[in-house]
Amino acid sequence: MRKLISFGRGPARMDLIQGLCGGLLALFLLMHLHLEASILIGPEAFDAVAWFLHAGWADPAGHGYAAMVVAAALIVLSLLGLHVWAALRRVPIEFRQWRALSRHLGHVRHGGTWLWGAQLLTGIALMLVLPVHLITMMTQPHHIGVEPSALRIVNEGGWLLYGLLLPLAVLHAVVGLVRLVLKWWPNFGRRRTLRRLAAAVVVYLLVLGGFSLGAHVSNGLSLNQGKTVMAGN
Ligand code: HEM
Repeated sequence: MRKLISFGRGPARMDLIQGLCGGLLALFLLMHLHLEASILIGPEAFDAVAWFLHAGWADPAGHGYAAMVVAAALIVLSLLGLHVWAALRRVPIEFRQWRALSRHLGHVRHGGTWLWGAQLLTGIALMLVLPVHLITMMTQPHHIGVEPSALRIVNEGGWLLYGLLLPLAVLHAVVGLVRLVLKWWPNFGRRRTLRRLAAAVVVYLLVLGGFSLGAHVSNGLSLNQGKTVMAGN
């Protein structure tokens, strides 16, 4: 009989790192999009969230500390680095492997395989797009607030960056969470319910993020015309 090859604990450990960091990033995104949506309540609400996250409450001058944003972005960037490092071993690197994969996806009519394909493609795109956002936040930590954010989004291409980042990040995070549930909870009964719930969460987050982005764009256009940004515009 042929002997089984032993891979040791390495792959299992890498899997754990990938899942743990991916899960934390997905939960961060859920929280982040809800905090971002404070712009829908009004400019004061968005500025209050920015003030709170800059630890304005701990600063006797009341301005807050840019270092808080830099630290948060560094933590997210480290989680992203670990997640990508652990996931890269699954990315096809040769043309031959890509061809085999697309042939496989063409033949296999299985939801799980398609989810894996979506995860791979959105993951590769995020590797390029997400660092742009994180590095912008780290280099411009003082420019977070109703007016600087709106001007960045309208005048510095933020609309395009977020227009790409939003669907990519939402799809990647929600599909990733579904795959984590199925992997660590194999007896999870109602797969159809889980798939429907995931689709509803994707739509909800896209609508929430889309409206928030729209509010920033509308504020930026008002500011460009010399108007001030007020609640409800
Ligand atoms: C600590 C790290 C992060 C900080 C400080 C941060 C901060 C911000 C801020 C202030 C905005 C509003 C627009 C602006 O001012 O430019 C924004 C928007 C956005 N961020 Fe982040 N972000 C971080 C990490 C992430 C991550 C990890 C993701 C995705 C996985 C992400 C996805 C988005 C998206 C999709 C938008 C647009 C939201 C919308 O459409 O309303 N961010 N972020």
